[in-house]
Amino acid sequence: MAVITPVWTHFDLAKSALLSGKHVFIEKPFTATSQQAEELIEIAEKNGLTIMVDHTFLFTPAVRKIREMIDQQELGQLYYYDSTRMNLGLFQRDVNVLWDLAPHDLAIVDYLIGAEPEAIVATGTPHLNGLTDVAYLTMYFPDKVIAHINVNWLSPVKIRTTVIGGDKKMLVWNDLESDEKIKVYDRGVHVDTQQDEYNLRVNYRSGDMWSPKLEVRKALKTELTYFVECIQNSIRPINDGYAGLRVVRMLEAAEESLKNKGETVYA
Ligand SMILES: NC(=O)c1ccc[n+]([C@@H]2O[C@H](COP(=O)([O-])OP(=O)(O)OC[C@H]3O[C@@H](n4cnc5c(N)ncnc54)[C@H](O)[C@@H]3O)[C@@H](O)[C@H]2O)c1
Repeated sequence: MAVITPVWTHFDLAKSALLSGKHVFIEKPFTATSQQAEELIEIAEKNGLTIMVDHTFLFTPAVRKIREMIDQQELGQLYYYDSTRMNLGLFQRDVNVLWDLAPHDLAIVDYLIGAEPEAIVATGTPHLNGLTDVAYLTMYFPDKVIAHINVNWLSPVKIRTTVIGGDKKMLVWNDLESDEKIKVYDRGVHVDTQQDEYNLRVNYRSGDMWSPKLEVRKALKTELTYFVECIQNSIRPINDGYAGLRVVRMLEAAEESLKNKGETVYA
């Protein structure tokens, strides 16, 4: 069964589907609370059923390529993930901009970094109907990896741009480009550690830029084919209930920080 309804309905619909013995494909964010997510995972596990959360971007050729580059150490040690996801609307009635747009980046970060954040800070403001419509989310991961996500329903233009920096290479992923979505830059800095802090010498490297060839395929089609394969072969999906739960936990931490004017929330 596919649950493609507003977030507040996800839990009840998915629960009744699972209790009727159905595998569930469910929209992001998985549930409105982590407690609901845990309950659905437990029901699915008890009944040998598959939950797949629609973290669509994990099935895009762009994200697959970036993951491959990270796995092959092409970017080197990761420094940061910085994403801007903004457009005019669409205003949701049941969730704020964090719960609407940030799940995409949180799922991507979870997939690319492969670690849970140690701390989260979120700030934002509601301008119109009491729901935050502009928000900035910062996540601190182990090994000094930092992620920043800018989500906004009040932008005059649509922007879907992510910059990822590593100590070997850096890349810019513009999802609105039809060709050359990803540009990889052989740019970076090298610090001469022999120097003392005052005389710190930073050497800049500015090499080639190139755009890797990406496969042309529809993410949703790939994802749904994978859903069927997972069910038929009892494979645990990369975007299973636990992946959905991790994203919901990050959203809850961000929401708590947002309510407390950007107070750091430790995981
Ligand atoms: N993965 C993505 O890229 C992506 C993009 C947009 C929206 N979404 C997600 O999709 C879901 C739906 O978003 P939307 O903007 O289409 O919402 P929506 O408000 O347009 O609702 C979608 C449909 O759900 C139906 N519906 C509402 N309550 C229901 C209920 N209790 N039982 C059965 N049907 C019900 C509505 O009639 C409507 O047809 C949300 O979870 C949203 O976060 C995901």
